[in-house]
Amino acid sequence: MQSYTKYFKSLHWLMAILMLGMLIVGWYMNDIATAPFKYELYGYHKATGMLILVLVLIRSVWRVSQPVKGHEGTVWQNRLATAAHLGLYAAMLAMPISGWFMSSAGGHAISFFGLFNVPLLDVAKAYGEWAEEVHEVVASILWGLIGLHVAGALYHHFVKKDSTLKRMLP
Ligand code: HEM
Ligand code: HEM
Repeated sequence: MQSYTKYFKSLHWLMAILMLGMLIVGWYMNDIATAPFKYELYGYHKATGMLILVLVLIRSVWRVSQPVKGHEGTVWQNRLATAAHLGLYAAMLAMPISGWFMSSAGGHAISFFGLFNVPLLDVAKAYGEWAEEVHEVVASILWGLIGLHVAGALYHHFVKKDSTLKRMLP
């Protein structure tokens, strides 16, 4: 069975940590009322989100140019896994893009960790609310997809005892 390259595995785990962190920080920062800490978190959230956008674009191009074969489940399990993977890629794109739209529509600057400002998109103010809705709904869907994904990985490892999880480990 074909494995992933060590760079691809590193990118998977780095992005898994970043995405989980972003989901938790996103909800937390939305709930707290204490300025300026709240807005500091917004700044880090936005900068890290833009970094994720760059990473997911690199990862998608890389993945499409190097197909990985050899899922070990039944036909339907493999279809479900592939659908979940596509959903995860779509959500990893939709989250930062909707965030970028949101900030652009509101005219809020996006500083990339104080190094430079990310150019804002030419988006009408009215799209801000729509983007906010997308950001919130996709975040909820993402929790479901991650749950399914992790459950699948654990099922392969502990129940079927195959190498699905091992091929993503170092
Ligand atoms: C890359 C992955 C990202 C994830 C997983 C993520 C996740 C989240 C989550 C879970 C929330 C809370 C949603 C709610 O309960 O209303 C949130 C809020 C927010 N995010 Fe993100 N986000 C990402 C990227 C970005 C980017 C790139 C930006 C902007 C450049 C951004 C800007 C915001 C803002 C402004 C809010 C607050 C929205 C409000 O006030 O209702 N996010 N994010
Ligand atoms: C934290 C627990 C996680 C575990 C145990 C895990 C495990 C795995 C495993 C074993 C694979 C390989 C599946 C196969 O080859 O059939 C995989 C692939 C993948 N994982 Fe995760 N993962 C985790 C978190 C995440 C998170 C949080 C995301 C994104 C939000 C994610 C996105 C993906 C994607 C998109 C693939 C498909 C890679 C490809 O073939 O292009 N994973 N994961």
